[in-house]
Amino acid sequence: MTETGIRKAVAADRAAIFSVEEAAFARKDEAELVEAIRRDGDAVLELVAERDRVLVGHVLFSRLCVETAGSRFAAVALAPVAVAPGLQGRGIGTALIRDGHRRLRAAGERLSVVLGDPAYYGRFGYTHRRAAGFDSLFQGDALQALAWDAAPETGRLVYPRAFGVG
Ligand SMILES: CC(C)(COP(=O)(O)OP(=O)(O)OC[C@H]1O[C@@H](n2cnc3c(N)ncnc32)[C@H](O)[C@@H]1OP(=O)(O)O)[C@@H](O)C(=O)NCCC(=O)NCCS
Repeated sequence: MTETGIRKAVAADRAAIFSVEEAAFARKDEAELVEAIRRDGDAVLELVAERDRVLVGHVLFSRLCVETAGSRFAAVALAPVAVAPGLQGRGIGTALIRDGHRRLRAAGERLSVVLGDPAYYGRFGYTHRRAAGFDSLFQGDALQALAWDAAPETGRLVYPRAFGVG
């Protein structure tokens, strides 16, 4: 059986990451977002999934700040995550996100925020309740957060510049 391996992305993965993101979303927006986040120096952690040396999945966590009166708390945003269309539904996205969380926690990160389907992200511990106090253009049921340690529950979410939302 072909095993899926998860590892940190390296510069040589760039084209394959672009292809996987583009194929998964059937458009270039997310692939271009990844490039812009990287170019701006806002990537915190990027992982890829490989099968038989072929890159089949990718996840990016970028630097998101929670701004409260006079201070900024460094959190991460999970986006985007993509798995090659022919290999979806086999646990690769789950493995990428879980491995990402493990590495982020080990690195001392305390809060992750995601915008997406609660039916999917809920399985990793993300809840809208944990994100409901944040001031964000994305505020709504799809905005979810996961805290591994003490972290702000209110404040303005400041996304990396590449998201174009301030
Ligand atoms: C979303 C995505 C990354 C998940 O990766 P995956 O390897 O297919 O997912 P897994 O095998 O780990 O998990 C499968 C489960 O997720 C669910 N799922 C997959 N995509 C989903 C989505 N967009 N919304 C809600 N649930 C989803 C499946 O129904 C399945 O549920 P089950 O375990 O209850 O049967 C992948 O399907 C993908 O690339 N989709 C297109 C791009 C996208 O929508 N990315 C997420 C937004 S940033």
